[in-house]
Amino acid sequence: MKLAVLTAGGVAPGMNAAVRAVAQKAFSLGWEVVGVEDGFGGILEERFSPIDRSRLGGLMHRGGTFLGSGRSKAVREKEGLERAAQRLEEEGIGGLVVIGGGGSLTSAKALGEAGVEAVGIPATIDNDVPGTELSIGVDTAIDTAVGAIDQVRGTAISHNRAHIVEVMGRDSGYLALMSAIAGGAEVALIPEFETEPGEILRFLEVAYERGKSHFVIVAAEGAELSAKELQEYINEAEGTYEADLTSVGHIQSGGDPTSTDRILAARLGSAAVEALAEGEAGTMVGVSGEETRRVPLDEVVGKERPLDPDMYTLAQVLAEMEK
Ligand code: F6P
Repeated sequence: MKLAVLTAGGVAPGMNAAVRAVAQKAFSLGWEVVGVEDGFGGILEERFSPIDRSRLGGLMHRGGTFLGSGRSKAVREKEGLERAAQRLEEEGIGGLVVIGGGGSLTSAKALGEAGVEAVGIPATIDNDVPGTELSIGVDTAIDTAVGAIDQVRGTAISHNRAHIVEVMGRDSGYLALMSAIAGGAEVALIPEFETEPGEILRFLEVAYERGKSHFVIVAAEGAELSAKELQEYINEAEGTYEADLTSVGHIQSGGDPTSTDRILAARLGSAAVEALAEGEAGTMVGVSGEETRRVPLDEVVGKERPLDPDMYTLAQVLAEMEK
């Protein structure tokens, strides 16, 4: 059997470790493996390259993706999908492993409907994929954001300021909320539980009057009130902290994966190949505690992964800023 593997969408730390696990598991079954370059677009452009053990060395601890990643509009349309399915068939490929976030898993499902035996592996720093507790990359991204919060706090304390740290996550507040909890932030501003700017200002005033030396707000990029708007709002008000803003940006999607992400990648990479070997294409592999599971792509695509409201309450309790 000839297996193809690709990484697509926003890059996530641990993608290399996932490709390695897919390939090693496939080799253990006596399969051949090819990498598709730069995501789904690479199928249409016939950019397939054989993966052997020599290409896998020194890879699992590295961030980024050696295969390259991309977002292809063409595979979202019927004609492009059919062409992609045909290209894979012409290459003699019997199975495809797609490593990526929601958009990539949507394309995996569509390719499945066009006749491709595809299995998905969730990899996104947004952790917004349903059917799995964790996606590859989010653990590293949280660590990166927390590193930024820790460093910024030093500045905020010294200048007696408020500091807004904007983190990625697209429409999901997961990355921001977990970073706020781990970073001991005073406020988490996330799309799922919006806080009025007036209320944040009230928290700031109370903290200022209490003589608190600093005030850290973690803001998700997807929050309706943007980090920039919040900064302006705070700075227009008088008698409280001055607010600075740092956007953590793309350093969250790069960086070398934590051991948690490497282990997750190892588990999911191997599980994806097992799913194909057992004729369970059309699924995504995910984790629930110690268990590795298969979830039909139908139950993943177009669905939401709700944020645990208890975690939001916990963030408020820890910050002593509950309503
Ligand atoms: O979906 C993953 C993600 O990293 C988001 O958190 C972020 O909004 C987006 O992708 C960034 O995309 P790009 O790297 O193409 O700018």
